[in-house]
Amino acid sequence: MKGIVMRTDLQAIVLAAGKSSRMHTGKSKLLEKICGQELISYTTHLLSCLHIPTIFVVGHKKEKIIPVIQHHYPLAQFVEQPQQKGTGDAFIQSAQAWKADTLLVINGDLPLLTDQLLKDLEEKHYSSQATVTFVTSFCDPSNTSYGRVFEENNAISVIEAAELSAEALRNNCRINAGIYLLSRPFAQQTISNLTPNRMSNELYITDLIHIAQKQGLVVSTVSTNFDTIRGVNTLEELWAVEQIKRASLIRHWMNNGVRFIAPQTNAIDISVTIGQGTVISAGVHLLGKTTIGKDCSIQPFSIIEHCIIEDDVIVHAHSVVTDAILHSQVSVGPFAFVRSKTVLKRKSSIGAFVDIKNSTLGELSKAKHLSYLGDATIGREVNIGAGSITCNYDGIKKHKTIIDDYVFVGSNNTLVAPLQLGKGSFTAAGSVITESIPTDALAFGRARQVTKPEYAKKLRAKKGITSNTDEKNDSSFVAAKKIDKEEFNR
Ligand code: UD1
Ligand code: CA
Repeated sequence: MKGIVMRTDLQAIVLAAGKSSRMHTGKSKLLEKICGQELISYTTHLLSCLHIPTIFVVGHKKEKIIPVIQHHYPLAQFVEQPQQKGTGDAFIQSAQAWKADTLLVINGDLPLLTDQLLKDLEEKHYSSQATVTFVTSFCDPSNTSYGRVFEENNAISVIEAAELSAEALRNNCRINAGIYLLSRPFAQQTISNLTPNRMSNELYITDLIHIAQKQGLVVSTVSTNFDTIRGVNTLEELWAVEQIKRASLIRHWMNNGVRFIAPQTNAIDISVTIGQGTVISAGVHLLGKTTIGKDCSIQPFSIIEHCIIEDDVIVHAHSVVTDAILHSQVSVGPFAFVRSKTVLKRKSSIGAFVDIKNSTLGELSKAKHLSYLGDATIGREVNIGAGSITCNYDGIKKHKTIIDDYVFVGSNNTLVAPLQLGKGSFTAAGSVITESIPTDALAFGRARQVTKPEYAKKLRAKKGITSNTDEKNDSSFVAAKKIDKEEFNR
């Protein structure tokens, strides 16, 4: 962290110990992915970028949450809340680590926060010389996920939705966002005054607002739009938040010259980048650390994950491309599966129903139809015939197939690895190739054909069949086909 000056006037406390019970998933909501990254990583990343020293209060699923936070903010500090006794209790657990004069407390379940909002909050706090400043917004009257802010006759307080009647909720849509700036001396003097809520028996951080106001201290608020402070308590709220995040990512790439044909059907992760002039069709998923170049076409219902795709690449419909590098002017699909460290070099082509795994396909080489290529190193200008496969696995070990430049593999070949097909060699259609082939050789690996003149005609006459496709003759033709191999072999 050389050269980075951390702030000393401000310290953040992120409340991340809660049980996520309203999710009904048995997992922590803070680890749910939003556009490919854990919910908690968004706030973590933001605070790291703003160089605000941060204490995370962890508890439930901490063994999984801590590594995620550390990944995004190596300097993060942690304190444990042994029992989940409310947001006030979580805040209290961090007290021994408070140093800065001002404390920024943020609920861990607010992934859409912006640096602008935090700037506005600080500005208001200092300009109004407040002891407590918190963020407010307005929600739909029917929303029961947020505490309501009541402000009248200079008295301000937050009351949780559970304690309010439907009518009271409808009449007051002003909500507490769960983001607070507090003076440290005030927090230190007051935390011991928090008392359990009479309904839930939990300590509420929001009670500090009321206490400050009662002590005649200045309490300020900053209002923001609802989307920025949407919290995630349920799967439905998670979905809503992801929609917003995804829409903002798509908008960003649209503004950079990427055409989305049906953006409402696309999934896109935060770590994806896309070049100008590229077209993303309906139902395409762009996932993980994926980089797509300029002027590519990703056609309907294809899934691209952890890939580097250079310029002018076409991925035809219904293809799955994962952990692969596609050089410029490559064509893939339709219905192709390209995976596990596969490299497709410039102008190479993978066609319909081809599965290619841990392999390299050289420049201008092609496998256009119905192939499996596993653990293969294929040179330039190689043609893999329709239906040809590598047998790379003997049940115990994987073996390599090396196909040198300019090789022609005929259709329906079975290439039993380990194997090397020498430069410019040729294999006959239908071959089972079990031995390596020298440069420029032709290899046959199949039984020779036997043709018996007039034999079919004789057979039909014997069985009284006139047509091979006549429905009434079907059963007799099947019977005829069964005719003694003996007779045929004679
Ligand atoms: C809280 C606020 C509510 C506000 C809303 C905004 C309180 C009492 N209520 O309600 O006024 O409108 O946020 O989103 O603060 N947590 C702990 N330990 C606990 C309980 C919670 O660390 O014992 C953490 C959770 O992991 C979560 C955050 O605190 O990240 C907020 O808790 P949550 O239960 O979601 O509070 P809300 O009911 O949403
Ligand atoms: Ca919440």
